[in-house]
Formats: sequence, structure tokens, C-alpha cells
Amino acid sequence: MNFLANFWYAAGWASEITKKPLARRVLDRPVALFRTEGGKAVALDDCCPHRMVPLSHGTVEGESLRCGYHGLRFDCAGKCVEVPGQASIPPRAKVHAYPLVERWKFAWIWMGEPAAADPDLIPELPWLDAADWAYSHGCIIYACNYALLLDNLIDLSHTTFVHQRTIGTDDVAKTPVRTTSDAGRVLVERVMDDTEPSNLYRKAGDFTGRVNRWQRIEFTPPASVIIDAGAVPAGPDAGKRGINTRVINIITPETPQSTFHFWAFARNFKLDDASMTQYIAEAIMLTFNEDKRLIDDQQRNVDARPEQRMLDNTADYGVVLARRIVERLLREQEETRAHA
Ligand code: FES
Ligand SMILES: [Fe+2]
Repeated sequence: MNFLANFWYAAGWASEITKKPLARRVLDRPVALFRTEGGKAVALDDCCPHRMVPLSHGTVEGESLRCGYHGLRFDCAGKCVEVPGQASIPPRAKVHAYPLVERWKFAWIWMGEPAAADPDLIPELPWLDAADWAYSHGCIIYACNYALLLDNLIDLSHTTFVHQRTIGTDDVAKTPVRTTSDAGRVLVERVMDDTEPSNLYRKAGDFTGRVNRWQRIEFTPPASVIIDAGAVPAGPDAGKRGINTRVINIITPETPQSTFHFWAFARNFKLDDASMTQYIAEAIMLTFNEDKRLIDDQQRNVDARPEQRMLDNTADYGVVLARRIVERLLREQEETRAHA
């Protein structure tokens, strides 16, 4: 399976990277993530060049990582700086250091050509750093290819049938969407005026009556889906008081059959309300676990029937366009590799 290599992927939340090395698979390659004593977050290929034990079993020493087997020590660039009991260091004693940048609370890793790793290409997620927004966040791992998770997040018509307990309402599936795209993004918009708020919205926004509600779902490659969603009271109060949220979905393929879904739910209300942060975190984890139950099993059917093609409904137009963008970028990547 080919992945789009020359993009920034979330290796994790920045807070997950500590002095205790963390073993993670990204684009089906093993990575050792750790933080030096000076505070720098580092990603090394998780395979010691000596006897190939994962470096994530090692320990951080100052600005270096010592392998947990025979003690070779590597600096943040992956260069071996010490071989215990031996004065000379063989030139082959080095590991690949992946570019890693901490921004917007995430640690972003670049699995492709290091020379192309431009931090300006990291997706903009200002809501996670802004003083006038608060957020809940988490991570869920699916037993599916990342394409099925993208489908799920781009076509929210399923929320009517899957998520009635939290974010789903009867109107979502019934309301037609407006889908637009260009070479590097797909936008799916749904506006629901004079409608019932979802259970989550009723609690979060203290709505007592009907609302005007919107969803703007934006896909950008390789695998981010940012949802601008919110509601205001319907009728004479419209626009006076409402809630604005961003559901941030940063997707990282772990393997061809498993996927990290790093999510954050940012809000512009009840900023200091820790119980609201907790309530949203639990509601969203419940919601995504409702998806997981379906998608993990969906992948089993897809694997068992390689000859069967899925059916595309009108609501799938955004999904189809997103897949087309990924397929085109994969073709371009293949062509570049063929000419290299
Ligand atoms: S395997 Fe790492 S030092 Fe031997
Ligand atoms: Fe869902």
C-alpha cells in the first residue's frame, strides 16, 4: 500500500512525547519518539543499526538516546556518538531522524523527502492555541484503512442514524449538501434552519428551542478533516447568541489496516468550564466509538470482497472528490519516483 509521503502527519499529541521513548508506527514504519532533557522532541527510526532492536526500548541521556540492548548512543540527528568499549564509531552506525515539529499542540512528522519538509505546510489549527477558544481532545485507533475513516468524516449524513445519543438529528441526513472542490481541498456544506438541536448542542449551548445549525466540512490532503459547526437560536433571537465549534480530525495511517484518529473539539463558549470540557470529551469518544464499531467491521467486508465496488449516493460526492485528490497525488508521487 502506498501512502502520500511528502506531507506532515500527526505523530501524536506533543504532550505524549516525554523522556520515556514512545514506539509508534506511522505510514507502516516504526518510529521512536522521545523528548531530550533539553526539551527537544525527536523522532528516530525505531531500529538500532547494531542488532536491530527497537530504539524505543532505550533511555534518554541529555540530548541523546542510548539503545537499551548494548548501549550505543545516538544524537538527535541519528548519528551514533558512542559505542561502549570501542573507540572508533563505524560510519554505518546511524539511524534516520525524521523531521519533527511541534505546533498547535501536535507533534508533526515528515516521513518523505527530508529536504521537502517545510514547516509552513503544517495545517493551520489556530483554535488549539487561541485564548478565546477551549478544547477537548483525544485519540482513537481504528482497525481500518484510513480511507474508510475519511469517508466517515466527510459524509456526516450517517450522524442521523449512528449518533442520535450525541450529535445526530433527524435533519442531517435529510438536508442536501453543497459540495465544492479544487485541486487541494473539498468543502461540503450543510445548512439546517429552524431545526432541533442535537443532544450535545442542547447541553453545550443551553438551547431551549429550535436552532439554525450549520456544518462546513473541509478535507485537505493527506488526511485532515476540519469541521466548522455551530448553531444559533432560530426565530427572533437568531444570531444573538450561539455556539461555534471546530471539530478537528487529524488522521494518521498506522498501517494499511489501522489508523490513528487524533481529534479535538474546540469551542468558543464556556471557556473555563472544566466540566464542559469533560462532558464533550466523553460525548465525542462515545460518538467515535459508535463509528469504530461500524467501520472496523466494514473493513472486514471490504477485505473479503475485493471484486465488489461500493455504491456512490449523492451524499457521497464529497467522499468521491476527496478520493480523487488522494489518487491524483499518489499518481504524481509515483511519477516523481519513477523519474528520480
Ligand atoms: S542493538 Fe542497539 S546497541 Fe546493540
Ligand atoms: Fe460518525
